[in-house]
Amino acid sequence: MAKVGIFGAGWVGLVTGVCFAELGHEVVVRDVVPEKIERLRRGEVPFHEAQVPDLLERNRERLTFTLDVDEVVDCEFLFVCVDTPPTYSGDADLSRVWRVVDELPELPGHPILVMKSTVPVGTGEKVRAGLDARGLDHVGYASNPEFLAEGHAVSDFMGPDRVVVGAFEAADTDAVASLYDGIDTPIVRTDVNSAEMIKLAANAFLMTRISFINEIANVCEATGADVVAVAAGVGLDSRLGPHFLRAGIGYGGSCFPKDSLALKQLASNSGYHFQLLSAVIEVNELQKRRVIGKLKRHLGSLHGKTVALLGLAFKPNTDDMREAPSIVLASRLLAEGADVRAWDPVADGGTLPRGVEIVPSVADAVRGADAAVIVTEWDELRGLASEETRTAMANPLIIDGRNLLDPAETRLAGFTYEGIGRQAFAGDPSPTPTP
Ligand code: UDX
Repeated sequence: MAKVGIFGAGWVGLVTGVCFAELGHEVVVRDVVPEKIERLRRGEVPFHEAQVPDLLERNRERLTFTLDVDEVVDCEFLFVCVDTPPTYSGDADLSRVWRVVDELPELPGHPILVMKSTVPVGTGEKVRAGLDARGLDHVGYASNPEFLAEGHAVSDFMGPDRVVVGAFEAADTDAVASLYDGIDTPIVRTDVNSAEMIKLAANAFLMTRISFINEIANVCEATGADVVAVAAGVGLDSRLGPHFLRAGIGYGGSCFPKDSLALKQLASNSGYHFQLLSAVIEVNELQKRRVIGKLKRHLGSLHGKTVALLGLAFKPNTDDMREAPSIVLASRLLAEGADVRAWDPVADGGTLPRGVEIVPSVADAVRGADAAVIVTEWDELRGLASEETRTAMANPLIIDGRNLLDPAETRLAGFTYEGIGRQAFAGDPSPTPTP
């Protein structure tokens, strides 16, 4: 078993840390924010992620949390798990990565610096040069990107589709790969640039699938097809597969929006205009706004109308609202003069624009509302089309941004219902395509 240092006690760093501890390694997690470290020492996890608290509790004697960079001195592996947010130019901000490199203490032996943060292709070569310039040429370097989705990150880590390791030396690749012994998965051994690109390309491909099915949904609306049936039929083609074909109001989160911008910028910095990725990003931005067109088609002007936004997190089972469609929708609705009420079972709505009323229950959100919009497909909303909701609303209109409810059942329950890319039925206003 190895001694593993982790720089960054954020979501990626903590998931990585508790999972390596679960695999039997000794783990030191180092962060620069005292409050974060104190909370972790008390056993508190500062975000909502299934299984992380259990793994933290179970592996306490193998986990150390520290502010002191010298505590990683005897680690054989030093994982970089810091944020790489976009800058104004669209490039990834690597300042936290460089801070880690700058702060590395004198390290004995042959430790390996392992990049888990998502970085532009070419970063490894620059960090290698930076290590050499600091006299740390005995420190190895490897890229080992994460493919963890929020909400099931621990199971993604413990049962991954693959582990990707790119290093400058074959022995370093083998050493990093050995950390995952005990996990039955293919190991992709490659060069550093390709490992960095695998992460960016995988995310870009997933986003492309989402924007593709969202555009198919929009054409379904205009032509009378049902995107849920279309996606099921398309996904059964073994060359295509069923994943990431759920039409909705667009992707959000801490990875996709940031990584797509970074890849687009990386391509453009290298003299290449990545047309397809640019379209994927634009389709997603427009998709977030389509609900407004749907609401207007049913309600006319939204001025003075009360709209309930149900679900604020960018997807269920997380409290993360980064780049969530709920933020765009709330801003657009306020700009249209609507009264906006918002509910989420976990996310606190702290990043919503001023003027949104955050309420503690679905019942509070829909009371007297002119429309309810399903923004996040929380399980709690599956029973939304109830008699209680219908009588509580001023106007029983449900816009289902995630195709969570059954259209026929919802209409039978007395609601006017519209999903994304689904047929409009008799009794609903004419299915004029929304812009
Ligand atoms: C993603 C990647 O899955 C993960 O491998 C990477 O490391 C980080 O980014 P995450 O952002 O946690 O993970 O969420 P994911 O479950 O992939 O969903 C991303 C977004 O796409 C969500 O907003 C989700 O609602 C949306 N989505 C996903 C769709 O709109 N349709 C789909 O079919 C799938």
